[in-house]
Amino acid sequence: MKAVVLVGGEGTRLRPLTETIPKPLIPLVDRPFLEHVLDHLAAHGVGEALLSSPYLEEVFASFLQARHDGPRVTWITEPTPLGTAGAVANAAREIGEPFLVLNGDILTDLDLTGLVALHREAGAIATIALALVEDARPYGLVTVSEAGRVLEFREKPQQAIPGLVNAGTYVLEPEAVRDVPPEGAVSIEREVFPALIDSGASVHGYVSQDYWKDLGTPESYLRATFDALEGRVKGLSYAAPYVDSTARVSLRCHLGRWVVVGPAARIGDDAEVEDSVLLAGAVIGEGARVRDSIVGPSATIGRGAVLSGAVLAEGAVIPSGTSADGARVAAGKVLGA
Ligand code: GDD
Ligand code: MG
Repeated sequence: MKAVVLVGGEGTRLRPLTETIPKPLIPLVDRPFLEHVLDHLAAHGVGEALLSSPYLEEVFASFLQARHDGPRVTWITEPTPLGTAGAVANAAREIGEPFLVLNGDILTDLDLTGLVALHREAGAIATIALALVEDARPYGLVTVSEAGRVLEFREKPQQAIPGLVNAGTYVLEPEAVRDVPPEGAVSIEREVFPALIDSGASVHGYVSQDYWKDLGTPESYLRATFDALEGRVKGLSYAAPYVDSTARVSLRCHLGRWVVVGPAARIGDDAEVEDSVLLAGAVIGEGARVRDSIVGPSATIGRGAVLSGAVLAEGAVIPSGTSADGARVAAGKVLGA
């Protein structure tokens, strides 16, 4: 089977980190997030993944050159954003059989084999994996009949209501995206699914209790990382805190349980790090305190600085002695400069 992995969003909510690293290539614990997605596909026997992105294509190219494990990856150039349906339709043009579609920013141990089996049994044109949430606003709210047929799909509802939402994984028949025009941005959530449902086509829901999290915001990215450290995601098992073997960490610093220290990162004496991810080459100065933050590759936090809820892009600098809550520092920039 083949899978289209959607990796071409701008990653707006994870800026400024995503200005230089596409969201799917931000590491989750020990490897770029997309590795986890591709490994999950391989574990369910997917032989080929089709990917496209109008952003940072060259960064994806180096990632793909370095990866040798299955599935085989076919890269498709997407010169201007086609939206979720446009990207799927563009990739699917050559696929003459049912295929999987995955949002590329979701950590899940979803049973893809079970999803495909249900799709076949139901004889559906589209089968959507669903998850139960308390507040549907960031998602696509889906209503299903008792028999599992999707009756309504409402992207980003305005009210904070609990319910079943689109978990960002589908099985589609090629006809599902046949009418998507080859140019211009089209949304699968706002246009294609509602139109299929209105036309009376059989769209099915697949409810599961499997682990599922969208990594689109700093909070949800950190949460997914901590869940992986806690062993809540099938197939992933790590020590907590997770410290890469090439990191240099003072014996006199304090690391909380929910901390990831990436390759070649350094942490000085008496520093304290809690509930945070330090990406490759990040430097935490002596006595600095970091909490609820994502510290980008080679970003530096000066001595005695106090940081919480921050997202620092590659090479960002927090000067010594600074206190910052919720800081966002762009690549190579110095906070306050
Ligand atoms: N190739 C390509 N081109 N990919 C795109 C484009 C595009 O123009 N626009 C978005 N994507 C990719 C993103 O990279 C992401 O992997 C996926 O499509 C979904 O986009 P997001 O921007 O992450 O959407 P969302 O998180 O607000 O909502 C989506 O995911 C929810 C589940 O987490 C929707 O599918 C919701 O219905 C769903 O509930
Ligand atoms: Mg998302």
